[in-house]
Amino acid sequence: MSGRIPRYFIDDLLARVDIVDLIDSHVPLKKTGTNFVARCPFHTEKTPSFSVSRNKQLFHCFGCGVSGNAIGFLMDFSHLDFVEAVEDLATFAGVDVPREASDHPSTIPKKENINDHYQLLEQVAAFYVKSLRTDEAGKKAVNYLKARGVSDELAKAFMLGYAPDEWQALANRFDQNQLVQAGMSVNKDGKVYDRFRGRVMYPIRDKRGRIVGFGGRVLDDSLPKYLNSPETLVFQKGKEVYGLFELLRNNSKPKRILIVEGYMDVITLAGSGIHYSVATLGTATSQAHLDLLFRFSSELVFCFDGDKAGREAAWRAMEPAFSTLKDGRQVRIMLLPQLHDPDSLVREEAAEGFTERVQQSQPLSDYFFDTLSGELNLNEMEGRSQLINKAKPYFEKLSQGVFRDMMFARLNELTRTNVLDVSGNSARLNATSTSNRRHESRLPSLPRLIIALLVQHPELINKVEQKEIIWDGLEFSGIQLFRDILAVVLETKPANTAVLLEHYRNHPNEKVIKDLASLSLLTSGQSVAAEGVENEFNDALDRLLTQAREACLDRLLAKGKSKSLDRVEKELLRKLLVIKHSGAI
Ligand code: UTP
Ligand code: MN
Repeated sequence: MSGRIPRYFIDDLLARVDIVDLIDSHVPLKKTGTNFVARCPFHTEKTPSFSVSRNKQLFHCFGCGVSGNAIGFLMDFSHLDFVEAVEDLATFAGVDVPREASDHPSTIPKKENINDHYQLLEQVAAFYVKSLRTDEAGKKAVNYLKARGVSDELAKAFMLGYAPDEWQALANRFDQNQLVQAGMSVNKDGKVYDRFRGRVMYPIRDKRGRIVGFGGRVLDDSLPKYLNSPETLVFQKGKEVYGLFELLRNNSKPKRILIVEGYMDVITLAGSGIHYSVATLGTATSQAHLDLLFRFSSELVFCFDGDKAGREAAWRAMEPAFSTLKDGRQVRIMLLPQLHDPDSLVREEAAEGFTERVQQSQPLSDYFFDTLSGELNLNEMEGRSQLINKAKPYFEKLSQGVFRDMMFARLNELTRTNVLDVSGNSARLNATSTSNRRHESRLPSLPRLIIALLVQHPELINKVEQKEIIWDGLEFSGIQLFRDILAVVLETKPANTAVLLEHYRNHPNEKVIKDLASLSLLTSGQSVAAEGVENEFNDALDRLLTQAREACLDRLLAKGKSKSLDRVEKELLRKLLVIKHSGAI
């Protein structure tokens, strides 16, 4: 579904819908004062601390700290990605999502086209199920599945089927063009043949349960053992995992998700009562896979065979793992004994034994350092410096936070150094990086108040514009952030805080802005009339500017005493004196 969603549409949509109605349709809200409250849908609580603001068009939970606009709510609540959330919100508002023309207009699939696609795959899956269960030829496949311990119930849950051993079983029943487009058939010299023949069929469903492709296994030792659907309009191997829909149907908030390699691993695990595994589709674990899975659980366990290929695959998974890890998320690594895969192991050890192994799997940090230092001699300086060099590219992917700090601390310990902030600065971990961050998030009260007021009432930009501020030489804490927000507000003229927040999605300042947006500014807890807000902002900004100008003036005067000022400084001094004498200071 290519073609970007235009920015203006997202802004309009956020201005048009009312977040109160939207959230109320998912989580019934109660009105208290100017806000609407409920028990938070994102954590367990007895008394409501989840609050929705109609003015700001934001939600915020004082208990667990989540916050965001209508799009953010749908992403978190319905586990959607950004585009899906915009589509859902548009449906809620009763409008269609426009798409910007892409470079290749002919490749933009039409919506009907995609729906046809899903429909066809659904019908094909039903046909495969029927041929497994009622055809004479299907008996072979039933026997095969039975021999592998797959119960009838399990086969139903995973919608297993059988592709008859014929060249045109599908081609004779469905639209041939559509079959080719959906990857189910192959066009060879103008003749259309079925791709899957004489195989047990595993439908691959996306998280909403729509069939997006198939895997098919031979019943004997012939090769290739598995065939998979090619990539199509609705199927990208690097983005889908096998078994997610079945997993979520069992438990929409699993404590952990186990990532295994094979279709049969997922099925046998589920048959043994371990309902929380998914499989990658014959591809390496990608960042998109992990992003997807982290939406449903905060703990992912990578399960690999214990042989050389498995260990290599585990190491290759470190890169996407480091890119997606942040505080509150966990990755563990589970290497199986030689010659076992989860399917064979859970048969041997039953759910109890297998679960124990899951619980004892190695935290990513241990696995990472063990693996790297296993190859090096850390008693020698050379080995220690190699460790730093090998760890560096991974550490650069970690997002800011306690976990990153702890990884650095560990690296410092192992290498007996104190150098490490990977940015290459000789920053001392504790002294520099954390105190900087604290600085950013806890601005002194006046600038913080002003910035928060602006974030919560973007229309205050008019007041700032009226002042025609000369920024040269001004310094105050948070000034960069303030000017950044001013520029965004000026350019985008957001209708409300929700729209402003949207412009900061995935921006380094996103968290800071979100915090400011939900900062409680009113000591009385009551809403202040628009005029009150305007006056408060005006006064606060005047005070801040005055202080900053005074400070600048003092600096220039002090410098002028010891050395001479350059032309620019002299000009600035002159301007500041004019402002001062006009009574603004
Ligand atoms: P395995 O060969 O480990 O699969 O390949 P498995 O699930 O253990 O197979 P059986 O049924 O128990 O013998 C792991 C995964 O790699 C992909 C499939 O997705 C498979 O589940 N694969 C494997 C292929 O795509 N093609 C192949 O020929 C083999
Ligand atoms: Mn296997």
